[in-house]
Amino acid sequence: MANDSKKHESSTSKFQSIISHCKEYGFVFPGSEIYDGLQAVYDYGQWGSELKKNIKDYWWKSMTQMHENIIGIDAAIFMHPTTWKASGHVDNFNDPMIDNKDSKKRYRVDHLIEDYAQKLNAESKIQEAEQLLDEMNSLLAKDDFESLKKLIVDNKIKCSISGTCNWTDIRQFNLMFSTEFGSTESSEKGPEENGLANIVYLRPETAQGIFVNFLNVQKSGRMKIPFGIAQIGKAFRNEIVARQFIFRMREFEQMEMQFFIRPGTQKEWYERWKETRMNWHLSLGISNDKYRFHDHVKLAHYADAACDIEYEFPIGFKEVEGIHSRTDFDLKNHQEYSKKKMQYFDNDVDPATGKPYGNYIPYVIETSIGLDRMFLLVMSEAYTEEDLSTSEKQDSRVVLKFPPSLAPVKLAILPLVKKDGLPEIARKIMDDCKSSFRCFYEEKDTIGKRYRRMDAIGTPFCVTVDQQTKEDNTVTIRHRDTMQQERIPADQVKKIVAGSII
Ligand code: GAP
Repeated sequence: MANDSKKHESSTSKFQSIISHCKEYGFVFPGSEIYDGLQAVYDYGQWGSELKKNIKDYWWKSMTQMHENIIGIDAAIFMHPTTWKASGHVDNFNDPMIDNKDSKKRYRVDHLIEDYAQKLNAESKIQEAEQLLDEMNSLLAKDDFESLKKLIVDNKIKCSISGTCNWTDIRQFNLMFSTEFGSTESSEKGPEENGLANIVYLRPETAQGIFVNFLNVQKSGRMKIPFGIAQIGKAFRNEIVARQFIFRMREFEQMEMQFFIRPGTQKEWYERWKETRMNWHLSLGISNDKYRFHDHVKLAHYADAACDIEYEFPIGFKEVEGIHSRTDFDLKNHQEYSKKKMQYFDNDVDPATGKPYGNYIPYVIETSIGLDRMFLLVMSEAYTEEDLSTSEKQDSRVVLKFPPSLAPVKLAILPLVKKDGLPEIARKIMDDCKSSFRCFYEEKDTIGKRYRRMDAIGTPFCVTVDQQTKEDNTVTIRHRDTMQQERIPADQVKKIVAGSII
């Protein structure tokens, strides 16, 4: 028990250190901080936005450039309101919630019970915790709110603020944000007169922008099934309890791909995409045992099979990506609500009948990864505190060991001193490299301090220009992870760095 709670404490403190580091070094800031922030909204700073962009590019390239049958689009955030009726989000995109009558604090029912189970785990009551979670999952799957409340009460699960078990009944809470479209509301006039067109929703997933464009893309791109449409974009959810830094936000970004297939082939494609997506994660050099699949017990309203790819964050194993077999639910409903055909004509011959497959509404396998969660994953994996103390002196460093392809800055160019023509030589190297990858030039402070600052933002290479450079045109290149330095010809710098970031 002592070991478990120590592990929990050190993971929590690692998580806190990551949050502080993200702020101190320009990765992530609390949103609207000068006004004391806006709950669960974050801004990406100078290095955070570079890292985020590199993650996006890595995903986009692997999905589109590396798959001849997947193309990308960029659909609008605002969509016709009927979209969300057809997709089922108006009626089904809910989370069960419960309020504590004394503190007035609102909880997501699954979070409340999961937190309690975590406490049981920390007290080594592993079996009890597992049983509780199993029971919760089975009741959630049946939407049996009465029994869920009983489960909370019977286990004496308390509100963290009031410390009481004085709970309301469980209710559903829709997670979509809505806003008004058209001119601003006037109390004098009715909606038609003042030009107020309608209530629109901020999209809670990017997927629907792909579904409504399915035929546009298929026809204009002359795509043949099986094919995929990829998209990266913002999504918005009015999370009841937004928490854990950028893990659960109200405004976030998704990288989604809908893969359109022949009905009846969904099981096979579902397995293929599970494997492909797991391999993508592992391609970043992250160890296999940091990942696991988690099959959904309660399926979303559109799915006939679904699982999450979970990563072991410092706060435990959590979902980073979902793989969903969405059947023909979305296209079929859009066809019904829009009265526009969402069918595809397949002229391949069905070996069973000897005739073309003909017209059908395709089935869909979806891969959906949260960009911000992927950012947190990359950050958690990279964040390393190293003790560098020797018998002579105490020393340590914080280094972000990003894969070079994702690092915000690839190369720092550092003249040893600000004189003797060294800055000019360093600037020449910078000019030679900066069109190929992100470089950073700095002449201030000791070289040791400059190295540490580059370690803290995860720059894989530092090049130092010194007096010897003037004599033989060589520079020192320092490798971030090993801190080893070697002497190389200055004209090799670009090739070495470029070669490491492919
Ligand atoms: N189109 C399917 C879909 O949206 P989801 O499992 O609800 O499925 C997909 O979301 C991914 O989006 C999740 O795996 C997660 O990485 C990310 N995500 C969902 N809600 C989020 C939130 N509130 N904050 C940050 N990321 C979120």
